[in-house]
Amino acid sequence: MRYADVYADWQADPDGWWMAQAEKVHWDRFPTRARASDDPTNPGWFADGLLNTCYNAVDRHVADGRGEQAALIWDSAVTGTIERITFAELQESCARLAGALRARGIEKGDRVVIYMPMVPEAIVAMLACTRIGAIHSVVFGGFAASELAIRIDDARPKAILAASCGIEPTRVVPYKPLIDAAIDQAEAKPEFCVVLQRDAAKADLVAGRDHDWHDFVSDAEPADCLPVEGDHPCYILYTSGTTGRPKGVVRLTGGHVVALNWTMKAIYDVDPGDVFWAASDVGWVVGHSYICYAPLFHGNTSVVFEGKPIGTPDAGTFWRVISDHGVKSFFTAPTTFRAILRADPEAAELAKHDLSKLNAIYLAGERADPATIEWVREKTGKPVYDHWWQTETGYTIAGNPTGIEVLPVKIGSPTVPMPGYDMCVLDDDGREADPGTLGSIAIRLPLPPGCLPTLWNARARFEEAYLERFPGYYTTGDAGKIDADGYVWIMARTDDVINVAGHRLSTGLMEEILTTHPDVAECAVVGVADALKGQLPMGFLTLKAGCTTPEAEIVAECVALVRDRIGPVAAFKLAVVVERLPKTRSGKILRSTIAGVADGGAVKVPATIDDPAILDEIRERIASIGYPLPEGQRQ
Ligand code: COA
Ligand code: AMP
Repeated sequence: MRYADVYADWQADPDGWWMAQAEKVHWDRFPTRARASDDPTNPGWFADGLLNTCYNAVDRHVADGRGEQAALIWDSAVTGTIERITFAELQESCARLAGALRARGIEKGDRVVIYMPMVPEAIVAMLACTRIGAIHSVVFGGFAASELAIRIDDARPKAILAASCGIEPTRVVPYKPLIDAAIDQAEAKPEFCVVLQRDAAKADLVAGRDHDWHDFVSDAEPADCLPVEGDHPCYILYTSGTTGRPKGVVRLTGGHVVALNWTMKAIYDVDPGDVFWAASDVGWVVGHSYICYAPLFHGNTSVVFEGKPIGTPDAGTFWRVISDHGVKSFFTAPTTFRAILRADPEAAELAKHDLSKLNAIYLAGERADPATIEWVREKTGKPVYDHWWQTETGYTIAGNPTGIEVLPVKIGSPTVPMPGYDMCVLDDDGREADPGTLGSIAIRLPLPPGCLPTLWNARARFEEAYLERFPGYYTTGDAGKIDADGYVWIMARTDDVINVAGHRLSTGLMEEILTTHPDVAECAVVGVADALKGQLPMGFLTLKAGCTTPEAEIVAECVALVRDRIGPVAAFKLAVVVERLPKTRSGKILRSTIAGVADGGAVKVPATIDDPAILDEIRERIASIGYPLPEGQRQ
């Protein structure tokens, strides 16, 4: 089979093509048509079908004779634990937790927030919700209480499922005080919490509200899978946007199961029974799609890894996991390899492990810099495939469809659009750009199954954020080009989103927080190049007239403020005080010019700048904290 033929088949009959993919998953009632509506902004994929997510991920494989195959391999490098959980065992745990939730009043459509580290119970929690039609919303453990509170108020969950702590390489992070503080801050109070007590830090439970996980499930009546409509929400996942308010990306059941199931062979080239590992976190979309759902839908064994590429205990851990568990396809963010390369440039650790079962390595989440790709290819001898996608789409927009046909790799390009995605590059007036010309990357509507149909309780915001800029298209927020061979090149975000170690963060949110500091008059946060994390946020602060607090003190307080309000994941550690911020004559802060100065490249001074001399001061201040990085250290 050739990629071009598959893409052409989809183009010729998109609905028929997706109906054929739908036949590969389990339906309690097969949909009569692919799309419920001709409205391209709201297609309603498989809306009149009935199915259950958990059944497709778990029960179906038990019924098909895979009950004894490992569904999950939990490898916790921070606790030294390895556990294999079969599909039959996973079915039992999901059914029990689902039954316990149902007995406490959780019903179809109710929201449940999950705040857990990389433990198998996090996967059980997600699946148990979908088993009874509840809508989960997983919040990444590195977010602070106030970010959790914002998500609680938006999703209004009836319950929170949590662990007592997360374990970082150098410290234990107690989660329960964060949850208690978030519930205090939130206006929408959940009815109850279920807490998985971990040995590293046990949590105090609030009588009458909090339950110990094991007690909660111990005598629960197992719940069967509840079939739901194809357009019933499966989950909400909050992601960063331009403003401080996160966007609640909604995933609908039918399209999610069908599309993700398709990707496992077509994109990752695995067959049922193969071991697949996505080294991410359940709090991110990669964790949702490729630690939990897609591998399980497809009957693969999914590795659930708790730890980091370095420091738990060393730069050989990832090679060990791949070797110990016979991983066939490995998916991670480029930062992982930059971290390993720094710690072990000769890859001495790699030589200690047998990677013979590994077929290929897949990268996403941030730009894959050519030097890192080359190093990984050279040291492992394995092909490395970049692919591009977003929380909003839930799976690859552009990639190398290695299970269909391995296309020639052009380093720096995630390769070509996947079936389902009619991609184009638009100029500022919404006209399609010629091949090779830079512009906004857009997708002609309708979006394929599995992509977001809306934002939770915010249809108008969805339309404004994604559809209004170019009518008839979904705006991805990325700028780039498509070359004459149809290869896609992703160059930069067009909004205030930055990418720190593959984590998507909003500089707008950081600015909102910094302006709450009593001495800060104005501020700008931009992403600057970082040799390890790709980008880091850097803050530029102007102070109120008459402020006498020493600048170093203000900077330290600002750093603490962002950590306290967003969480350690923001990695906000760089800030400088400046006299003034560069602005246009109409008063707009020139953030991209500041970022250009901080990155040390050639900066084109905008004609509209009110006072070009400000840039010299900015340059000096940046130099005082060690920027720009030398040429070889920029990604
Ligand atoms: N709970 C609590 N705190 C967390 C956390 C969690 N689940 N995850 C991260 N943090 C904290 C870290 O401890 C760190 O805190 P610190 O500032 O006190 O050191 C901070 O948030 C930043 O975390 P992280 O981005 O993981 O950076 P790091 O410096 O600890 O590790 C890497 C650097 C490169 C090893 C790490 O970023 C990594 O593994 N990246 C791989 C890319 C990846 O998995 N991306 C996910 C999206 S696909
Ligand atoms: P997230 O929603 O967290 O997955 O982040 C999505 C954003 O990360 C995209 O819009 C891109 O800006 C960036 N991104 C993801 N994958 C890639 C990639 N392969 N190359 C370049 N940028 C990427």
